[in-house]
Amino acid sequence: MDKKQQDQLKKEAATKAAMMVESGSVLGVGTGSTVAFFIDALGKRKDEEGFRLKHIVTTSNRSKKQLEGLGFKVDELANIDQADLTVDGADRVDDNLDGIKGGGGALTLEKNVAINSKKIIWIVDESKLVQQLSGFPLPVEVLPISCEQNFKKFASQGLKPKFRLAEDGKRYVTHYGNYIIDLYADPIPVPAGLADYLDHTVGVVEHGLFLNMCDEVIIAHSDGTIEDKR
Ligand code: 5RP
Repeated sequence: MDKKQQDQLKKEAATKAAMMVESGSVLGVGTGSTVAFFIDALGKRKDEEGFRLKHIVTTSNRSKKQLEGLGFKVDELANIDQADLTVDGADRVDDNLDGIKGGGGALTLEKNVAINSKKIIWIVDESKLVQQLSGFPLPVEVLPISCEQNFKKFASQGLKPKFRLAEDGKRYVTHYGNYIIDLYADPIPVPAGLADYLDHTVGVVEHGLFLNMCDEVIIAHSDGTIEDKR
């Protein structure tokens, strides 16, 4: 599938999700190119139907800027109790609706918004679907003070770590001033075991394994169908 086709599928999944958002609700909005199509579709609903949201929270400055550009007011997560629904993209989704996220580096806020949402929908094109989590490096956000030790430990565990680099060749720095170590262990044999290990590793701020979180995935297929998997 070339990029143009993939973008078309992302747009279809995103447009369907935008139609599922209820007016007057509290919405969480994720990050990424699929979510960018979702935000455009929300903006269209706002202009054409007078559709309004009670609150919107988002997971990155990129999405915030786009939403504000379309006239939406964006709130801070700290100022809302819970989102009724969060719509986000994903890098990989398996048969259990577990996923790898964080390709765009926004995993920490994405997970925070996700766990404070009553319902989570991911929007993907069919290339993101896998039987077992694989085919995409797992992002791990780490504190600068512990990153070298974290890196060595991950290497000794066979997790094949690499520091993520920014365009200037320097280490990529997250919104919170941390680094990202991408783990190239592929496939991830026992995602819950790895998540537990990372959750208990000092210096790890967050990781991109989103397990038992997603309620529904909207998948746009290249045969023109849109699947709603729960
Ligand atoms: C950002 C994410 C994105 O949701 C994920 O990378 C999917 O992005 P895209 O829609 O551009 O393929 O987790 O941290």
